[in-house]
Formats: sequence, C-alpha cells, structure tokens
Amino acid sequence: MVRTTPGSDAVPAPNPVVRAGSDPAAEGDVNLSPLRRAWERDHVRGRTRALLDRDAAAYLHQSLSTPCFDALVGAEGIWLTDADGRRFMDFHGNNVHQVGYRHPRVIDAVKHQLDALPFSPRRFTNGPAVELAERLGALAPDPLRKVLLAPGGALAIGMALKLARVATGRHKTISMWDSFHGASLDAISIGGEAVFRRDMGPLMPGAEHVPPCDPHACRFGCGGTCDARCADYVDYVLGKEEDVAAVIVETVRCTDVQVPPATYYRSLRDACDRHGALLILDEVPIGLGRTGTMFAFERYGIVPDMVVLGKGLGGAVFPMAALIARADLDVAGDRALGHYTHEKSPVGCAAALATLDVIEDERLLERADRLGAHALGRMRDLARRHALVGDVRGVGLLLGLELVKPDGSPARREAERVMYGCLARGLSFKIGQGNVITLSPPLVIADADLDRAFDILDAALADVAARPDA
Ligand SMILES: Cc1ncc(COP(=O)(O)O)c(C=O)c1O
Repeated sequence: MVRTTPGSDAVPAPNPVVRAGSDPAAEGDVNLSPLRRAWERDHVRGRTRALLDRDAAAYLHQSLSTPCFDALVGAEGIWLTDADGRRFMDFHGNNVHQVGYRHPRVIDAVKHQLDALPFSPRRFTNGPAVELAERLGALAPDPLRKVLLAPGGALAIGMALKLARVATGRHKTISMWDSFHGASLDAISIGGEAVFRRDMGPLMPGAEHVPPCDPHACRFGCGGTCDARCADYVDYVLGKEEDVAAVIVETVRCTDVQVPPATYYRSLRDACDRHGALLILDEVPIGLGRTGTMFAFERYGIVPDMVVLGKGLGGAVFPMAALIARADLDVAGDRALGHYTHEKSPVGCAAALATLDVIEDERLLERADRLGAHALGRMRDLARRHALVGDVRGVGLLLGLELVKPDGSPARREAERVMYGCLARGLSFKIGQGNVITLSPPLVIADADLDRAFDILDAALADVAARPDA
C-alpha cells in the first residue's frame, strides 16, 4: 500500500489540518456554490443552457445534483462528452467506471442479454444471476461465500444491517463519523456526514458513531504513528454497549481517501470477535480493483464477516450491488432481507460478469497498483511545488490531495477553484470533506492520459496560487 502522510520523507511535513467538523458545506462542490454559478456563466451556452433549465424545472432540487451544471451526450473509455462537444477526463464517475465507459465486452454482454432475457421476476432465477453469485463467492476469501444482489449500494448496506440483526439477535451498530454508506434513511443513520443527516428528523435507533481512523489527523493524538487508539476506542464502546450487532466501516474512506494502517484493522477484527459483533466492510466505491486488489480488505490481512460491493459491479451500465457474507450467516431464510424488484437482473448480472472478466483479463489490479504508484509520485511533486497541498495519499488508483491554508485550516474555496479550473481544462473529479481533491480515474486509463491529468492539476493549482483573492 502506498501512502504519504505526515512524517514521510517523500513530502514536506504538511500543515496541521483543522477539521471541518459538522459544517454542512464540508461536502464541497454543492450546487449552490457561487463558484458553480460563475463556471456556468463562463462555460454554459445555448443548447446546454436550455437543457439545464428544463432539468431544473422538471426535477426536485437537491444539494448534490439538480440543478446540474452541464449536460452529457456521450461517454467512452475515460471520457465524457457534453452537449457542446467539450470532453472531460472523468476522474469522478461516481466510482462506477473501473473498466471505463462503454467497454466493448460489457456493452456486447448487455446487448446480448437484452435480446435473450431482459428481466427475471421473483421466484425465478436465471443463468447470469447464478453465475455471478458463484463467481463473487469464489473471488472472496473463505468464509465469505454466500451472496445477495441489490440494485444499489445503499440497498445492499440495508440488507447487511438486517442480516446482522437476524444473525446476532442484536440491533445496535457502531459506525464512523464522516463515513458515507448511501443516501437512504437507514444508510444515513449509520453514515456520518452532516450534509445527509441534517434536518432529517429521527434516524435509526441504536446507530452509535465513533471517530474514524484518520491517520493524518488523528483525534486520539497518535501523531501519525497510528497505534490503533481509535480501534481501542471501538473495543471500549463494544465493551460498554455489550449488545452491538455490527461494526460497519468503509475499508478505505472514499470521499477523502483515508487509508488506515494494518494495525487498525487487526485491532478492529479482534475487538469484534471478542465482543460477538460482526465486522461489515463497505467497499461499494472501492472494491473490484480500485485499490489494486479485488477487495480492499485483502491489503489488511483480515477477512470481514460481510463485505458490500456496488457501483463498478454494473460495468458503468447497470445499477448493481452485492452483499457477500460468511456462509454460516445464511440464517434468515424465513425473512426478507432484500426483496428488490431488480434483484436478479439478468442484464445487470451479464454486465457484472463481463466487468469481472475485463478486470481479470486486462490485469487491472496490477495496472491500478502500477499507475497508482506513478500518480503518487506526481502528487508528491505537486506537494513540493504548491504550498496549498498539505497532504497527498492514495492506494491503487484512489488518490487524494488535501488542500490547506497557511494556518493549516481546510482550503475549501481554493479546492473548489482548483476543481473548476480543471473542469475548464477538461478534467473532472470530486472534492471530499470540502478540501480534498479526490481522484478516481478508470483503471483502464492510458499512462499518457494520467500524466495529462496531473499537468492540468498543476496548472490549476498554479492559477489559484497566482490569484489567491480571485
Ligand atoms: C462507501 C459507499 N457506500 C455506499 C454507497 C451507496 O451506493 P448507492 O449510491 O449505489 O446507493 C456509496 C455511494 O457513493 C458509497 O460511496
């Protein structure tokens, strides 16, 4: 695992980071930002403007989508094309695009399946669904063997929560502040981001939260050495509560690329075992190769009791998610854990099988590792030359640059300016926790395109440094 945090000799020691706390603006590029409006003023023209206006008139507005800021007409490989013919390298892609957009093998499989069997009603199974469950069960290490599918990550998280309740006879959970597990009410109950929880009224009872492992900004004072004090705290809470069904964690937090050390997961695994709680790892955006291994937890030498996959499983075509659980957790045969209309979609399963083939045949795990190491080198170089870059970190092709002001506080406006500067130059990515540039390129990206993206980032950072008050 490649990671650069305070103390590394590769990057100058970053300024101490002041945390965003529960600031609802911490999610960053929300659509009410004045910088968003300025970007639209400068870049959005006739046909696109008309489509955006119709979109805003027809859809309910919400903070992270409608009103939108551009309209797409095409996607291919790493590229998005907007209605005015502009192209963007997509380093965001909601993390569905490990194999890129319109991968020919995925598209062929989907077209073929549409012609053969487009839908499979409840009570029937079908070949692609059986094959996918067998394949996922075989990919995961023992004892993770049994699978349930769902048309979305939050739904699969919900199934994991239900199964944990049935299997343990307990209902409480421990999850992490600042985490994201989906936007449904059960998922925001265990999630820890203010922008999703604020003003939503009573959330699910028994959903306890603890501080996450942020190795570069530890709330327990480990000073960057990570002696797993945050995991000890989970152990402490498990001991006090005694009736916790599950601890739920994003193996690597995707929004701002928090990569815990192995000691953290070893301690967490031990704590769960000691107190009879299940360990559920959410790998919805990062599983299936993004971190350089099929499952991110393989980096840590532990096996959870359940893992949740999603997003990229549908090959950037179809909404697909999966819960893979320990075989002996098959104990809810008389309950409905999922029961979703599109649960065993033959089309979605065909897309997923083709995606797994591409990941294996194109050796995308090795590719993520190799390109990730190269990207970290480029990011370290940016950190040396741009004072705004306080920390760089990554695992595989999940990469984060944390921007901080000279006093160490989060450089949120600057991060947004860098983002819009990159968009204007043809690079799209998201900002996590308000000040972390999160880069998540397709794993099929060509070396030269990856370098081109860092050149764009370099130019946008230089622009912001040259005009700090703009
Ligand atoms: C870590 C994590 N878990 C769960 C989800 C929810 O997935 P979906 O949007 O498919 O419901 C997301 C989505 O971004 C996610 O990042």
